[in-house]
Amino acid sequence: MTMAFPTLPVTLACLTLLALLLIAMAADNDSMASGLVLLNCGASGQGGDDIGRTWDGDTGSKFAPLLEGVAANASHEDPSLPSRVPYMTARIFTSNYTYSFPVSAGRMFLRLYFYPVAYGNYAFSNAFFGVTTPDLVLLNDFNASQIAEASSAYLVCEFSVNVSSGSLDLTFAPSAHQNGSYAFVNGIEIVPTPDIFTAADTRYVGDNLSPFSFDTETSLQTMHRLNIGGEAISRFDDSGFYRSWASDLPYLSGGSGVTFSRDFNLTIRYTPTVLDYIAPIDVYKTARSMGPNAQDNGKYNLTWILPVDAGFSYLLRLHFCEIKYPFTKVNQRVFFIYINNQTAAQQMDVIVLSGGIGRASYTDYVIMAVGSGQVNMSVALHPDLSSKPEYSDAILNGLEVFKLQSYGSPNSLAGLNPPLLQKPGADLNRQSSGARKFKGYIVAIGGTTGGISFMVIVLFSAIVICRRKKVAKNFFKTDHGHHPTERKKSTCDLVRHFSLAEIQLVTKDFDEAFIIGRGGFGNVYSGEIDGRTKVAIKRFNHKSQQGFHEFQTEIEMLCNFRHRHLVSLIGYCEEKNEMILVYDYMAHGTLREHLYNTRNPALPWQQRLEICIGAARGLHYLHTGAEQGIIHRDVKTTNILLDDRLMAKVSDFGLSKASPDIDNSHMSTVVKGTFGYLDPEYFRLQRLTKKSDVYSFGVVLFETLCARPVINTKLPEEQVSLRDWALSCRKEGVLKEIVDPRVKEEITPECFRIFAEIAEKCVADRSIDRPSMGDVLWNLEVALQLQDSASYNSRCAEGASSLQITPVDSDRPSTNSTISVAAQEAIFSDIAHPEG
Ligand SMILES: *[C@@H]1O[C@H](CO)[C@@H](O)[C@H](O)[C@H]1NC(C)=O
Ligand SMILES: *[C@@H]1O[C@H](CO)[C@@H](O)[C@H](O)[C@H]1NC(C)=O
Ligand SMILES: *[C@@H]1O[C@H](CO)[C@@H](O)[C@H](O)[C@H]1NC(C)=O
Ligand SMILES: *[C@@H]1O[C@H](CO)[C@@H](O)[C@H](O)[C@H]1NC(C)=O
Ligand SMILES: *[C@@H]1O[C@H](CO)[C@@H](O)[C@H](O)[C@H]1NC(C)=O
Ligand SMILES: *[C@@H]1O[C@H](CO)[C@@H](O)[C@H](O)[C@H]1NC(C)=O
Ligand SMILES: *[C@@H]1O[C@H](CO)[C@@H](O)[C@H](O)[C@H]1NC(C)=O
Ligand SMILES: *[C@@H]1O[C@H](CO)[C@@H](O)[C@H](O)[C@H]1NC(C)=O
Ligand SMILES: *[C@@H]1O[C@H](CO)[C@@H](O)[C@H](O)[C@H]1NC(C)=O
Ligand SMILES: *[C@@H]1O[C@H](CO)[C@@H](O)[C@H](O)[C@H]1NC(C)=O
Repeated sequence: MTMAFPTLPVTLACLTLLALLLIAMAADNDSMASGLVLLNCGASGQGGDDIGRTWDGDTGSKFAPLLEGVAANASHEDPSLPSRVPYMTARIFTSNYTYSFPVSAGRMFLRLYFYPVAYGNYAFSNAFFGVTTPDLVLLNDFNASQIAEASSAYLVCEFSVNVSSGSLDLTFAPSAHQNGSYAFVNGIEIVPTPDIFTAADTRYVGDNLSPFSFDTETSLQTMHRLNIGGEAISRFDDSGFYRSWASDLPYLSGGSGVTFSRDFNLTIRYTPTVLDYIAPIDVYKTARSMGPNAQDNGKYNLTWILPVDAGFSYLLRLHFCEIKYPFTKVNQRVFFIYINNQTAAQQMDVIVLSGGIGRASYTDYVIMAVGSGQVNMSVALHPDLSSKPEYSDAILNGLEVFKLQSYGSPNSLAGLNPPLLQKPGADLNRQSSGARKFKGYIVAIGGTTGGISFMVIVLFSAIVICRRKKVAKNFFKTDHGHHPTERKKSTCDLVRHFSLAEIQLVTKDFDEAFIIGRGGFGNVYSGEIDGRTKVAIKRFNHKSQQGFHEFQTEIEMLCNFRHRHLVSLIGYCEEKNEMILVYDYMAHGTLREHLYNTRNPALPWQQRLEICIGAARGLHYLHTGAEQGIIHRDVKTTNILLDDRLMAKVSDFGLSKASPDIDNSHMSTVVKGTFGYLDPEYFRLQRLTKKSDVYSFGVVLFETLCARPVINTKLPEEQVSLRDWALSCRKEGVLKEIVDPRVKEEITPECFRIFAEIAEKCVADRSIDRPSMGDVLWNLEVALQLQDSASYNSRCAEGASSLQITPVDSDRPSTNSTISVAAQEAIFSDIAHPEG
């Protein structure tokens, strides 16, 4: 069955929306009934956060009897705050106060939100306090100004506690060690969980790996939670507990190995011992391994360095999943795990542990961190060749580090002040958050796109909501709890500074032989840093002022914007008049090089679509991911790069500009960009908007479809401009005739229709008639599904509904009609955040 997408009459649209809101409300009621608490301290009434959850003010709250303290507003709003709620209001206590939450006994995450700025007359230098429960110290002599000094805007401390009585009492106590000290808190979140810490086999590292039995009453504090080899995963995309997973990049030490995602046709499954709440499927979908070179791998350890507080024991949970063919058999990849230089495991074989490729698994270790103050914990992997495995390699997909409470009087989790920080990453990825999805469909209703995108978006949203509801139900049945510390830095500490000598060394002093590209700005060289990471080195012509500006813009942009579909900056060099940027090497060059005037084989249509979706996603992120939104200004096929897996990455931010927030506002500026892709309105009126990027992207879509230059002066006049020629062919109904003959036969009619329609809308004369990048993205996704559905016809045929949506990528239901819950989860999770 092919999927039908009739245009919806407006009334039906409204009804659908209403139904949707009801579903959302029901979901809310569900979670309230099951013990989710979101308390926005210092506020009255309700407010929504960045992932679409509703927080209740503590003024008049049943959790805050005889509320003391002062409600205060933050003195300013840091641009890096994910949302105003719960950060912009605080409750300030000058004497002890106890919040009391009636909860069902069991385990729960307790998250405390702190945004340390001045509140009214309360200088933040006097915020100095402790937080306790009746039998546990959570924070002690917590000094908020130290957080501020560590240059993070805000802090979320996550604990996991197992409450035995029917209530969780949380006391905020100003420190007695300083006159005039006060306590404050911006938000309190409680999320019941099942017992996620008791594992079948936990080993105590350092004591002959004796079994460690986890005491179910133990409280923990989350120190680190990393999605290894992948991007940060937002709270919204977690499997039900609103955990956030950070990128592991900042914690790598020495060789960084290689990252990869699951094989295209592989479905990742949970198992009876690894249920979906252990970690979201996205954690297992990406991994880091040592690399393809067995000899190199023998010479180093793949190592993560994680700061922790000395004097506590830590539970380390390592998540594993083989996700690439040919790693399907025992004894292919076998390795050692070292924690703090001690052997935690030898002969680790993920296939043995998990039972096969695509199966989620994990192992737990406990180790004591000795020393004083803050110490580094290391987790290292190294090939174990004792059983002569096929490959000399190691793999890791996810890593969590939890501090275990110390027993004593009092019991305590309080470590250093300031508490340890998660490096930036978790929140840079905000475009995938729920808020955006929710906004997504509302915008679409008022927007210019037709019924189809609206309906699909509504459906997606409905599925997302239903899915969340389901997950919530699943785990709330077994009411139980645990916690993390995260913070965000505004500085750019992910980017490395190179000396000119280093750059000269790897490029043999800018030897011509290393040149892989030339442009107006200068040359691009290839090179290898640290002996194993291949990079592209962009050397700006030093004379021009223009060059300097673009160099600065690019560094600033790429420091602040990191995304799977934006090229990533590794470092820079600014020395002796040289301006050099070092990027990840993009093995497959530019998209242009795969379309025409090339010796590269023709890209199949589906691949082209995926590349367009990737690029659209990168641009959508630029437009919406930042507080202000960024306009790229030079979107073209030579600025869309392809990595070794042909994943699209938008590059070249030298011309980018921050745009005012409102979509239809504009900025006037000198016209820059590339002829053939330039928005005529921008040209005419010198008005730059995000829609200028949309226009250029529309040209890219036609270029990808027709595989010819956007301007070709050798052709007859009416054909010179690809955009004009394509529009006139479309008007005549003969667009298909100018499609790249090498893919013409592959494109399904439905896919072609949507694709041509959206490309046409993008290049509309007036910016107001063009869709937003978000709409473009959704439509391309639909186009891909319509393309896909042709190749998976039989699978779709089993859908009962006439409006079945197939997943965007390959985690599809298997052809037999019983679809496992895990498989469905995987599908839904992909719909919620499809990959390019
Ligand atoms: C949610 O619960 C409130 C009161 O508990 C009730 O009035 C409301 O109708 C419920 N909403 C839905 C959608 O069930
Ligand atoms: C905080 O801001 C809100 C809205 O801007 C205002 O209504 C409230 O009075 C302010 N509270 C204080 C304590 O200033
Ligand atoms: C809190 O930290 C700040 C900055 O490090 C320091 O100046 C101040 O003395 C500390 N306050 C207390 C009470 O230790
Ligand atoms: C406030 O709480 C702290 C820690 O719980 C406690 O040590 C202190 O005695 C309390 N102060 C008062 C006045 O109750
Ligand atoms: C607080 O002030 C009192 C009297 O003003 C003084 O005796 C005491 O030493 C001060 N305490 C601290 C911790 O500074
Ligand atoms: C919480 O602790 C109690 C013992 O006090 C134990 O029976 C229960 O299993 C624990 N719950 C969880 C989820 O660990
Ligand atoms: C997935 O692709 C690999 C080759 O890339 C192939 O060996 C394997 O059989 C495929 N698996 C399925 C389930 O199609
Ligand atoms: C592990 O070994 C490295 C290198 O010898 C050393 O720098 C580090 O301090 C050691 N770590 C621990 C926890 O002993
Ligand atoms: C890897 O780490 C282990 C444990 O710290 C150490 O014994 C070994 O020498 C390291 N290997 C390499 C190649 O650095
Ligand atoms: C921990 O490691 C980092 C680098 O990874 C280093 O800068 C820092 O000094 C180390 N801290 C300690 C306490 O050894």
